[in-house]
Amino acid sequence: MEVIRSIRAMQETVRNLKERAVTIGFVPTMGALHEGHLSLIRRCREENSFVVVSIFVNPIQFGPSEDFQSYPRDLEGDMEKLSALGVDLLFFPDLKEIYPDGYSTYVVVEGLSDKMCGAFRPGHFRGVATVVAKLFNIVKPDRAYFGQKDYQQTVIIKKLVEDLNFDIEIVVCPTVRESDGLAMSSRNLYLNADERKAASSIYRVLKKAEEMVRSGEALERVKEYMENALSTGPLIREVQYASVYHPETLDELTSESLKRSGCREVVLAVALVIGNARLIDNIVVDLTK
Ligand code: PAJ
Repeated sequence: MEVIRSIRAMQETVRNLKERAVTIGFVPTMGALHEGHLSLIRRCREENSFVVVSIFVNPIQFGPSEDFQSYPRDLEGDMEKLSALGVDLLFFPDLKEIYPDGYSTYVVVEGLSDKMCGAFRPGHFRGVATVVAKLFNIVKPDRAYFGQKDYQQTVIIKKLVEDLNFDIEIVVCPTVRESDGLAMSSRNLYLNADERKAASSIYRVLKKAEEMVRSGEALERVKEYMENALSTGPLIREVQYASVYHPETLDELTSESLKRSGCREVVLAVALVIGNARLIDNIVVDLTK
């Protein structure tokens, strides 16, 4: 596996690949790779002749009191995993390479960025959209792979690609879970044993809420159930949101607004704090099935 740290070298490599008409698949990450990341990379490996993975812990998507400094980093372990999966190239730029002194251009996907997680993490999606737009310009992939676990992120990236005319196919891959249903996340490392156990309630509540939606329960009741069941759970410090959302606008849905929208899917989504970890999860419910 080749490792490139400079944008110039990356662009030169990409130019050569394009001349040979090679299809480039890309998986952007912040490292500390787990099975969730690896599932994206496997899919990318199957569908493209050249696979690029990036590792960059992007400071501008972390709030001032968030975990940028303590975010887990494990380059050696990550490189072993990437090599084993047959990744062709790791792009691993340093901070100054991506944001040199005087850097001043940002990408904001308006509207979508202030909802759900955006309401609790001001500036987060501006940071995500900016770095992803930069990475797309550097790597110029044909396809890029994202996890459904970060549902709002996938909606924002798709809108970014549409609005800024990136010629890139966005592929969204299913959430990979632990055996008790907890969505895999680098931030699960922050949980102690009791918190880890308590965190498994998130998926149980989502599954129960899915059943309620399928059995025709009013969405207001579903939201009430989710909020109550989670906020009374052990060790859960704060439920930031737990509700039913429109899959594209990310607006909260009531039974009435669902009817008007004609949506074929709804998203059940949760963000909460256990111990020192802010955890998110979601289920997309296909109403036609
Ligand atoms: P990171 O949290 O490292 O995640 C990288 C990719 O892995 C994202 O697309 C995320 O949705 C996916 N992923 C994480 N956990 C997953 C799981 N359990 N199942 C399936 N996919 C999972 O998301 C980011 O980094 C950053 O915001 C980034 C897009 C790299 C921009 O900085």
